[in-house]
Amino acid sequence: MPNPESRSYRIAVLASGRGSNLQALLDAIADGSLPARIVGVFSDKPAAVALQRARDVGIPARALSPKAFASRVDFDAALFAAVDEVRPDLIVCAGYMRLIDGAVVDARRGRVINIHPSLLPAFKGLHTHQQALDAAATEHGASIHFVTPDLDGGPVIAQARVPVHPGDDADALAARVLEREHPLLVETLRWFAAGRIRLAEDGVHVDGRASVPLQLAANLRFA
Ligand code: GRF
Repeated sequence: MPNPESRSYRIAVLASGRGSNLQALLDAIADGSLPARIVGVFSDKPAAVALQRARDVGIPARALSPKAFASRVDFDAALFAAVDEVRPDLIVCAGYMRLIDGAVVDARRGRVINIHPSLLPAFKGLHTHQQALDAAATEHGASIHFVTPDLDGGPVIAQARVPVHPGDDADALAARVLEREHPLLVETLRWFAAGRIRLAEDGVHVDGRASVPLQLAANLRFA
């Protein structure tokens, strides 16, 4: 049984859909490999499966509908007010499919990260697997980056790489990437919970030094 004290690192998760990345975090916390707590799950989609995954294990889960707000700014203000109430150390966007207002992000600089299914800076935005195939990429993967007002453009913290195989379609490639996303997210959060990663003026610092993106190795740890 993990020491409850070691679970004091507080994570809030934002998710719009199935929440398999959230589930990977829940599983890692449950088996003691991630010393952290998920203190709330938030969504812009009331029907998101991610919300149910949280409720099933007694974690507060809340959806706000953007349609109920006059503007994106108003929606984000309300959503992040709810997020702030659970006092997270880190806010993790894991399949959260909405742009976040720049002022909201700036006010939480260094405390919001996102997992994006490409090797950033390649293939920002949507349909990243098809973008990789269209570009005849031989390698693809996933990145975790700090969220800044620049869409998918914030400093990259860590990456996982997979080969593109001949004959891959977007679904096959997406499945290969997703399999690596889960350990990538868990390992990154282990390093956050240990206080090893932070956003400095000149970019990502790991163990107090400017860092190039960490790379997930075959043993699912950082090389
Ligand atoms: C993942 O591929 C993530 O990288 C992207 O959206 C997908 C979410 O998957 N941002 P899930 O909801 O965690 O299963």
